[in-house]
Amino acid sequence: TFVVTDNCIKCKYTDCVEVCPVDCFYEGPNFLVIHPDECIDCALCEPECPAQAIFSEDEVPDDMQEFIELNAELAQSWSNITEKKDALPDAEDWDGVENKIKYLER
Ligand code: SF4
Ligand code: F3S
Repeated sequence: TFVVTDNCIKCKYTDCVEVCPVDCFYEGPNFLVIHPDECIDCALCEPECPAQAIFSEDEVPDDMQEFIELNAELAQSWSNITEKKDALPDAEDWDGVENKIKYLER
Protein backbone atom coordinates (compact mmCIF):
# COMPACT_ATOMS: atom_id res chain seq x y z
CA THR A 1 0.00 0.00 0.00
CA PHE A 2 0.95 3.65 -0.29
CA VAL A 3 1.02 6.03 2.67
CA VAL A 4 0.48 9.79 3.03
CA THR A 5 3.05 11.33 5.38
CA ASP A 6 3.91 14.49 7.31
CA ASN A 7 4.36 17.02 4.52
CA CYS A 8 0.71 16.72 3.43
CA ILE A 9 -0.38 18.28 6.72
CA LYS A 10 -1.47 21.93 6.31
CA CYS A 11 -0.87 21.71 2.53
CA LYS A 12 -3.44 19.18 1.25
CA TYR A 13 -2.90 19.88 -2.43
CA THR A 14 -5.26 17.01 -3.42
CA ASP A 15 -3.64 16.37 -6.81
CA CYS A 16 -3.29 12.78 -5.61
CA VAL A 17 -7.01 12.01 -5.58
CA GLU A 18 -7.41 12.81 -9.27
CA VAL A 19 -5.26 9.93 -10.42
CA CYS A 20 -6.29 7.18 -8.00
CA PRO A 21 -8.10 4.48 -9.98
CA VAL A 22 -9.82 3.04 -6.92
CA ASP A 23 -10.70 6.30 -5.10
CA CYS A 24 -9.11 5.25 -1.83
CA PHE A 25 -8.22 8.69 -0.41
CA TYR A 26 -9.97 9.95 2.72
CA GLU A 27 -10.04 13.55 3.89
CA GLY A 28 -9.65 15.22 7.24
CA PRO A 29 -9.49 18.96 8.06
CA ASN A 30 -5.83 19.41 7.09
CA PHE A 31 -4.55 16.02 5.89
CA LEU A 32 -5.44 13.16 3.58
CA VAL A 33 -4.91 9.45 4.12
CA ILE A 34 -4.95 6.32 1.96
CA HIS A 35 -7.06 3.33 2.96
CA PRO A 36 -4.54 0.47 3.07
CA ASP A 37 -7.09 -2.23 2.26
CA GLU A 38 -8.33 -0.39 -0.84
CA CYS A 39 -5.03 0.81 -2.36
CA ILE A 40 -3.96 -1.44 -5.24
CA ASP A 41 -0.34 -0.25 -5.26
CA CYS A 42 -0.54 1.32 -8.70
CA ALA A 43 1.94 4.06 -7.65
CA LEU A 44 0.21 6.71 -9.78
CA CYS A 45 -0.33 9.11 -6.88
CA GLU A 46 3.26 9.26 -5.67
CA PRO A 47 4.66 11.55 -8.41
CA GLU A 48 1.52 13.71 -8.45
CA CYS A 49 1.98 15.11 -4.94
CA PRO A 50 3.63 18.58 -5.13
CA ALA A 51 4.70 18.14 -1.50
CA GLN A 52 6.22 14.70 -2.11
CA ALA A 53 4.28 13.38 0.86
CA ILE A 54 3.33 9.97 -0.57
CA PHE A 55 5.53 6.91 -0.18
CA SER A 56 5.23 3.20 -0.78
CA GLU A 57 4.80 1.55 2.63
CA ASP A 58 8.22 -0.06 2.43
CA GLU A 59 9.87 3.27 1.58
CA VAL A 60 8.36 5.41 4.33
CA PRO A 61 11.29 7.21 6.03
CA ASP A 62 12.27 5.92 9.48
CA ASP A 63 11.06 9.05 11.25
CA MET A 64 7.61 8.78 9.67
CA GLN A 65 6.78 5.15 10.40
CA GLU A 66 3.84 6.17 12.60
CA PHE A 67 2.04 7.41 9.49
CA ILE A 68 1.51 3.83 8.32
CA GLU A 69 -0.79 3.12 11.25
CA LEU A 70 -2.22 6.63 11.16
CA ASN A 71 -3.41 6.23 7.55
CA ALA A 72 -5.11 2.94 8.45
CA GLU A 73 -6.75 4.43 11.52
CA LEU A 74 -8.01 7.71 10.05
CA ALA A 75 -9.26 6.09 6.82
CA GLN A 76 -11.90 4.34 8.95
CA SER A 77 -13.61 7.54 10.03
CA TRP A 78 -12.79 10.22 7.45
CA SER A 79 -14.80 10.86 4.27
CA ASN A 80 -13.88 9.67 0.82
CA ILE A 81 -12.51 12.35 -1.52
CA THR A 82 -12.39 11.80 -5.27
CA GLU A 83 -12.06 15.25 -6.81
CA LYS A 84 -9.32 17.83 -6.55
CA LYS A 85 -10.09 20.97 -4.60
CA ASP A 86 -8.09 24.08 -3.70
CA ALA A 87 -5.07 23.50 -1.48
CA LEU A 88 -5.18 24.93 2.04
CA PRO A 89 -4.63 28.73 2.06
CA ASP A 90 -1.06 28.71 3.38
CA ALA A 91 0.01 25.52 1.65
CA GLU A 92 3.08 27.06 0.04
CA ASP A 93 4.34 28.41 3.36
CA TRP A 94 3.92 25.03 5.07
CA ASP A 95 5.39 22.92 2.27
CA GLY A 96 8.68 21.57 3.60
CA VAL A 97 8.19 22.46 7.25
CA GLU A 98 9.21 19.41 9.31
CA ASN A 99 7.24 17.59 11.98
CA LYS A 100 3.82 18.99 11.20
CA ILE A 101 2.13 16.03 12.86
CA LYS A 102 1.55 18.20 15.93
CA TYR A 103 -0.81 20.30 13.84
CA LEU A 104 -2.84 17.34 12.63
CA GLU A 105 -6.55 17.94 13.09
CA ARG A 106 -8.82 14.93 13.40
FE1 SF4 B 1 -4.56 5.08 -5.29
FE2 SF4 B 1 -2.64 3.91 -6.68
FE3 SF4 B 1 -2.02 5.77 -4.90
FE4 SF4 B 1 -2.90 3.41 -4.07
S1 SF4 B 1 -0.97 3.81 -5.16
S2 SF4 B 1 -3.55 5.41 -3.33
S3 SF4 B 1 -4.35 2.87 -5.68
S4 SF4 B 1 -3.19 6.07 -6.78
FE1 F3S C 1 -1.54 15.71 0.43
FE2 F3S C 1 0.07 15.61 -1.60
FE3 F3S C 1 -2.33 14.64 -1.83
S1 F3S C 1 -0.12 17.29 -0.18
S2 F3S C 1 -3.50 15.93 -0.48
S3 F3S C 1 -0.77 13.89 -0.48
S4 F3S C 1 -1.24 15.79 -3.37
